[in-house]
Amino acid sequence: MTMKNILVTGGAGFIGSNFIRMVLTEHPDCFVVNLDKLTYAGNLENLAEFHHHDRYQFVHGDICDSPLAVKFLLDQCQIDTIVNFAAESHVDRSITGPKIFIETNVAGTLNLLEAARDKKVDRFLQVSTDEVYGSLGSEGKFTEQTPLSPNSPYSASKAAADHLVRAFGHTWGLKYNITRCSNNYGPYQFPEKLIPLMIHNALHDKELPVYGDGMQVRDWLYVYDHCTAIWCVLDQAPPGEIYNIGGCNEKANLDVINLILGRVGKPTTLIRHVKDRPGHDRRYAIDAGKIMRQLGWKPSVTFEQGIARTIDWYLSNGKWLANVASGQYQQYYEKMYGNR
Ligand code: NAD
Ligand code: TYD
Repeated sequence: MTMKNILVTGGAGFIGSNFIRMVLTEHPDCFVVNLDKLTYAGNLENLAEFHHHDRYQFVHGDICDSPLAVKFLLDQCQIDTIVNFAAESHVDRSITGPKIFIETNVAGTLNLLEAARDKKVDRFLQVSTDEVYGSLGSEGKFTEQTPLSPNSPYSASKAAADHLVRAFGHTWGLKYNITRCSNNYGPYQFPEKLIPLMIHNALHDKELPVYGDGMQVRDWLYVYDHCTAIWCVLDQAPPGEIYNIGGCNEKANLDVINLILGRVGKPTTLIRHVKDRPGHDRRYAIDAGKIMRQLGWKPSVTFEQGIARTIDWYLSNGKWLANVASGQYQQYYEKMYGNR
């Protein structure tokens, strides 16, 4: 592979920062520019050890800024590859305020696509989600052929972005890939999502809010394994291909929560069933056969190994957790869980 100059958008968030760490650590022929707006979910602490790295540059900016600003950046840094992680990513927030999801996830992606098309980049990789496929019953898995049927404003905005990416490929020949991954967990995840929220609350002897009956199923993948899958796609995939990514780790929410409680040594009496999420998707499950067969990708850890590593990481990074769970986070928590 030749030298890659990669523009990573949303690289100060959970998955983006893990991706940048992997690239800078394992791929010495890559230069990374991280374009991030630093919303509540973006945190420069996630990449503190790389601030002065000679193959890394942070740019504080919004993907919704004019395409001219993005084009300027592509020129200045001679970008050949774009990986678009930047997004509003939380379903619950999309239910209380959907508009910003359309602005960032749809209009922001369109902006990047226009710049990528005009600059004729070698590859545009859209980081999408399995949630664009909607919800499953108790049988079956999502394949790349499953029709898109998004149920939340979040997943609808991600599906709209996927359609735009494909349309830019069809209409202008943009060389793109789309990856659709299942739920991620691991270090640096903001404690609004299930696993870090439950770890945080358990450590502080706070109640663990379980939506509805807690028997909804998610297909969990350790974040590093999502990052290696994205790398495989960048490195080997033909343009225009879409890949599902998942680890065959279907778990009911209550099982995940009980596992966390067991590992941190807290009682199940902390569990509190609260009002369900409106339109809550019941089950996600990914068939990742295509990326495994075509690109030789496979996850490096089992769920049991990954969750143990993750809990240990939160236990030894109490300062990081305390910092992100202070200030505005308290208001967020009160708004989301106060009356539930
Ligand atoms: P995150 O919320 O942790 O991070 C999002 C990042 O994007 C933050 O750093 C934020 O500051 C930045 N951002 C938001 N709006 C921006 C804008 N307008 N311009 C520039 N930067 C902006 O999200 P995440 O969990 O790391 O998810 C990253 C991507 O992966 C998203 O596109 C999401 O849809 C997708 N995804 C996430 C999961 C998951 O389980 N978390 C699973 C599959 C796919
Ligand atoms: P989440 O981490 O928000 O991811 P997503 O909704 O995108 O799959 O939620 C994962 C599952 O956990 C989902 O079924 C909702 C549930 N959940 C709770 O039961 N309680 C909570 O406090 C949160 C944040 C999620």
